[in-house]
Amino acid sequence: MGDMSKMEVKTSLLDNMIGVGDMVLLEPLTEKSFIENLRKRFNHNEIYTYIGSVVISINPYRSLPIYTPDKVEEYRNRNFYELSPHIYALADEAYRSLRDQDKDQCILITGESGAGKTEASKLVMSYVAAVCGKGAEVNQVKEQLLQSNPVLEAFGNAKTVRNDNSSRFGKYMDIEFDFKGDPLGGVISNYLLEKSRVVKQPRGERNFHIFYQLLSGASEDMLKKLKLERDFSKYNYLSLDSATVTGVDDASCFRTVKNAMQIVGFMDDETQSVLELVGAVLKLGNIEFKPESRVNEVDESRVKDKNELKEICELLGIDQSVLERAFSFRTVEAKQEKVSTTLNVAQAYYARDALAKNLYSRLFTWLVNRINESIKAQTKKRKKVMGVLDIYGFEIFEENSFEQFIINYCNEKLQQIFIELTLKEEQEEYIREGIEWTHIEYFNNSVICDLIENNTNGIMAMLDEECLRPGTVTDSTFLEKLNQICADHQHFESRMSKSSKFLNDHSLPHNCFRIQHYAGKVLYHVDGFVDKNNDLLYRDLSQAMWKANHSLIKSLFPDGNPAKINLKRPPTAGSQFKASVATLMKNLQTKNPNYIRCIKPNDQKASHIFTDSLVCHQVRYLGLMENVRVRRAGYAFRQPYEACLERYKMLCKQTWPHWRGQARDGVEVLLKDLQIPAEEYSYGRSKIFIRNPRTLFSLEEQRKRRLHGLATLIQKIFRGWKARTHFLLMKSSQVTVAAWYRRYAQQKKYKKTKSSAVIVQSFIRGWKARKILRELKYQKRCKEAVTTIGAYWHGTQVRREYRKFFRAHAGKRIYEFTIQRIIQKYFLELKNKMPSMSPCDKTWPARPYLFLDSTHKELRRIFHLWTCKKYRGQFTDQKKAIYKEKLEASEIFKDKKALYPSSVGQPFQGDYLEINKNPRYQKLNSLVEEKIIFADIVNKINRANGKGAQRIFLLTKNKFMLADQKSGHQVKSIVPLAELTSVSMSAQSDGFFALRVKEGTTAAAKGDFLLNSERIIEIITKLHRAGLDLTKEKIQIEITDEFLVQFKQDKVCVKFIQSNPKNGTMASCKRKNNRLLEVTVPSP
Ligand SMILES: Nc1ncnc2c1ncn2[C@@H]1O[C@H](COP(=O)(O)OP(=O)(O)O)[C@@H](O)[C@H]1O
Ligand SMILES: [Mg+2]
Repeated sequence: MGDMSKMEVKTSLLDNMIGVGDMVLLEPLTEKSFIENLRKRFNHNEIYTYIGSVVISINPYRSLPIYTPDKVEEYRNRNFYELSPHIYALADEAYRSLRDQDKDQCILITGESGAGKTEASKLVMSYVAAVCGKGAEVNQVKEQLLQSNPVLEAFGNAKTVRNDNSSRFGKYMDIEFDFKGDPLGGVISNYLLEKSRVVKQPRGERNFHIFYQLLSGASEDMLKKLKLERDFSKYNYLSLDSATVTGVDDASCFRTVKNAMQIVGFMDDETQSVLELVGAVLKLGNIEFKPESRVNEVDESRVKDKNELKEICELLGIDQSVLERAFSFRTVEAKQEKVSTTLNVAQAYYARDALAKNLYSRLFTWLVNRINESIKAQTKKRKKVMGVLDIYGFEIFEENSFEQFIINYCNEKLQQIFIELTLKEEQEEYIREGIEWTHIEYFNNSVICDLIENNTNGIMAMLDEECLRPGTVTDSTFLEKLNQICADHQHFESRMSKSSKFLNDHSLPHNCFRIQHYAGKVLYHVDGFVDKNNDLLYRDLSQAMWKANHSLIKSLFPDGNPAKINLKRPPTAGSQFKASVATLMKNLQTKNPNYIRCIKPNDQKASHIFTDSLVCHQVRYLGLMENVRVRRAGYAFRQPYEACLERYKMLCKQTWPHWRGQARDGVEVLLKDLQIPAEEYSYGRSKIFIRNPRTLFSLEEQRKRRLHGLATLIQKIFRGWKARTHFLLMKSSQVTVAAWYRRYAQQKKYKKTKSSAVIVQSFIRGWKARKILRELKYQKRCKEAVTTIGAYWHGTQVRREYRKFFRAHAGKRIYEFTIQRIIQKYFLELKNKMPSMSPCDKTWPARPYLFLDSTHKELRRIFHLWTCKKYRGQFTDQKKAIYKEKLEASEIFKDKKALYPSSVGQPFQGDYLEINKNPRYQKLNSLVEEKIIFADIVNKINRANGKGAQRIFLLTKNKFMLADQKSGHQVKSIVPLAELTSVSMSAQSDGFFALRVKEGTTAAAKGDFLLNSERIIEIITKLHRAGLDLTKEKIQIEITDEFLVQFKQDKVCVKFIQSNPKNGTMASCKRKNNRLLEVTVPSP
């Protein structure tokens, strides 16, 4: 938007115009009006005026506020005709054409000395630097390119009568850019420095700036080092009459130059060396010579004051004697011969000045090369090039010499190229394109160029010829030659020229010739032409320089190296210059030219003064009028049809957006449609020619408007499309959202309705069900009621019917009867099912009725008791006694003695020996009065060894006895039962037992008895019974596995041990020691 508003308020070439900005638009076109227009504009500080694309610049001689950064911005990227004329517009056009259309450019700046060419070149460079790429690297390149100017100006510029800062060398600078328009570097070419200025300056002029700058700007210290003094008047080479220039501070300029050198990339020691050479040149001027007569009457020179020479030699590291000799002798080498001749004073001075000039000009060339080294592009890629040519302007002095001749020749060539590229080229293009063309007369200066540079009979060729010719050659022989050869040339005049039409012109001095240059007649003094063209430096001097112990000076004089002596003459200054100008011209022709034609408004270097005659003269020789005429007669603008159609096709409906057909037809349709008057354009073969820039401008204007319109249209369509897409998207989103929402809402509503319906339904169903239930319940109750009623009724009926058959309480009786009947049946059945009479038979019939349970159990108990009683009832007394004994045995041993269970089944027989029957025991039997309760053989354990001895054991009701078994009658012991206190035995299945006798009795004398019997249970039971019967006291029975037995006095312990049954089935007794008997019992 910002850009658009800027465009709206833009100025135009035609806006606020003072006079006319473009001379092509001038009406009427006369020389007078032309000058008038320039003057008018100049007076209003409009120093720039166009002729088509050529810029005329008038030197204002004061700084104008039109080169500010704002101005740069204003002109940046703008159409050439869009703003009021400015050098920036041209620079912008050139730069953009270079950047965007890839056309190499050259900026040709022409004009007289002091017309502002150098300033213009700097303005162009600074503008390009301001608008081209940015960035640290680019900025350094720019800075170096710009800073090369002050350095070269200090060494190559000088104050002249025409210009306080006149370039005394030609300069062509190629600025190189990359594909995107960023500067990469540059190359400077320099053309022929006016080196004669080093040793001599015309009145009112100065030597090169650097001498003055060094002397006023250098520190005391530096001056001392350079062996210089601050006083200008001390130096012969510095003319005194205009040592200072008003408005210029040499000292500050010196600082600027040193700073610039640093930026460009000079090392400190390089700068120092350069200044040393400058100092040396100054001092050379102070060397003076005096004549010394010799015998052979040849003048010989000597250095007058050797001090200066010594200092120079110290400064440059030269052997003093070498230099001194070089000033006095000259060695000529010809065909292996070396001839040394002495120099006279004049020759010595000549040699000195030649050295000074050579030194300085070689230093200058070295500087340019050194700068080039710094600023050269660091890439090998293809570069775009913008060349800026600032060559010394056309010069007419009071006395013009070889330098002016050279300078003016160069300007002549430039004019030539201008003519070629603008006037001729323009006309030729019309012819090529078949455009009707009224030929415009213009002066073609090629004849003058030919006069000077023609290889066979040009002035330069003849000068060279003279220089090379053997024999005496002087300037006048050269002039003679000119008079012969060029006499017929219409642009050449001399007093001697035979058929010259100016023969009668006595204003022409004898030693002069005049050339009628395109820019005016110039009278050249022929003096010095030969010398200057020869540019001779005696070899002795160059060799002396080469020998210097100073690297810079040594490198400046490679020709002084004796090893590289070249007997061939070096090319003359003129031919060198001609060659380099030719290269330059060739170079320029390959590029797209942009012209700046500088005009000097007055000769006083003063602002606000516009000298008509002076300007008129320049306008004439610059051919500006012709330039305008060609422009006006022709067409301001041309363009191939394709390009034109492409550019403007949007202005017409038929050609927009595409034209199908020939481009030319398209352009025709287009221009007709735009109603451009037919005289405004012409159709060439391949190009359209537009006569008036205004037409083009208006086309441009319309195009711009149309572009706006198109942009708006595109915007409109795009916006519409965007809005519509957005809308459609929104709409479809909305539909989707709505669908989803509706679905959701419907679903919700449906669920609610459904649940309501279900609730209502359930209520109704419940209500219905309850109603039915009630109904059913009611019916059921009715049925029950009916049944009950029916039962009652039936009962009543039955009772009523049967009452007469029943007595009262019949029910109870029936009941009792039934019960009795059942019981009866029970007993009857029980009787049939009775179990056996054995008390051991535990079977009992099943219970038939629950209510008989207790009875049934009781009956069973009674029956058992009864069978037991019956069983007992069968027993005899004897059997009873046996059972009684068995019972006692059970009481004593059950669960105490392991042997007991095996004894239960054995009936107790008592007398196993049948004492009273067996005759063997008759005697024994007779000894016993009482009835024998028990008799059997037992083992009496011998207390000595534990072995058993068989004894007959007898028990009666009041005693027991032990009798010998062998004899069968010998009684061993008799113990009344009353004296038996206790019996001891083990709990195991052995038959050992001890009978203890009350102490103090007769029986006790023998001690206790330890016996072993298989019938221990029976023996003990019977003992116990007998004891109890006798004494009413129980015999103590001790069952333990360890007990003491009293043998006489000793008590012996009997211990029972279980053993493995393998050791035998019988228990065995062993005496272990005095006090222990061990009985081993096999474990069951
Ligand atoms: N555009 C300008 N604005 C202000 N002063 C200028 C301008 N052009 C030239 N000058 C003045 O004129 C003097 C000479 O200009 P210069 O470019 O050196 O001339 P030329 O190179 O053509 O001999 C400059 O030193 C400067 O003072
Ligand atoms: Mg200049």
